[in-house]
Amino acid sequence: MPLQLTLCRLCARSRPDFQRMVNQLAAEYPGKIEVIELDCIAACDDAPSVMVATKYYAHVAPQQLADIVHEKMDEA
Ligand code: FES
Repeated sequence: MPLQLTLCRLCARSRPDFQRMVNQLAAEYPGKIEVIELDCIAACDDAPSVMVATKYYAHVAPQQLADIVHEKMDEA
C-alpha cells in the first residue's frame, strides 16, 4: 500500500515551495506515494499541513516534509 499524503489543495497551491516538494517526492517514489488532495482539511491556520499516513503535521516546511517521507520510506 502506498504511503498516503493527504493535504489541502488550496493551501498547498498557495505555497509553491511546498507543492513543489510534494511533486518531487511523488516523482522520487513512483507508485509508493499516493497524494490525496482535498479542498480543505480543516487546518487552515496550520498551513501548510499534511497527514502522512495517519499522523498529522502542522506548519510543515518543504525540507521537513522530505525528511518525514524519507524516514517513512526507510522504515518500509
Ligand atoms: S483551505 Fe486549506 S486547510 Fe482549509
